[in-house]
Amino acid sequence: MDDDRRRVVVTGEGPVLIYGPVDVEMPDGTRVPGDRAVTALCTCGRSRRSPFCDTSHRRRVRDRREKEDDT
Ligand code: FES
Repeated sequence: MDDDRRRVVVTGEGPVLIYGPVDVEMPDGTRVPGDRAVTALCTCGRSRRSPFCDTSHRRRVRDRREKEDDT
């Protein structure tokens, strides 16, 4: 197994998780260096820390589940 390979997990209702340190390149070309074991990138567009997930997606998932329970 190649230890240099990163694992990327698409969670479906939340962020994309990247296992292993990564640098994130922003639209303006700047780079945000990352040494975290796991980096969570926002896919819902609600994060106030974009491009990183701040768990704001959880409210949307909870709201949708509550609506489904009401029907
Ligand atoms: S995916 Fe978590 S805040 Fe957007």
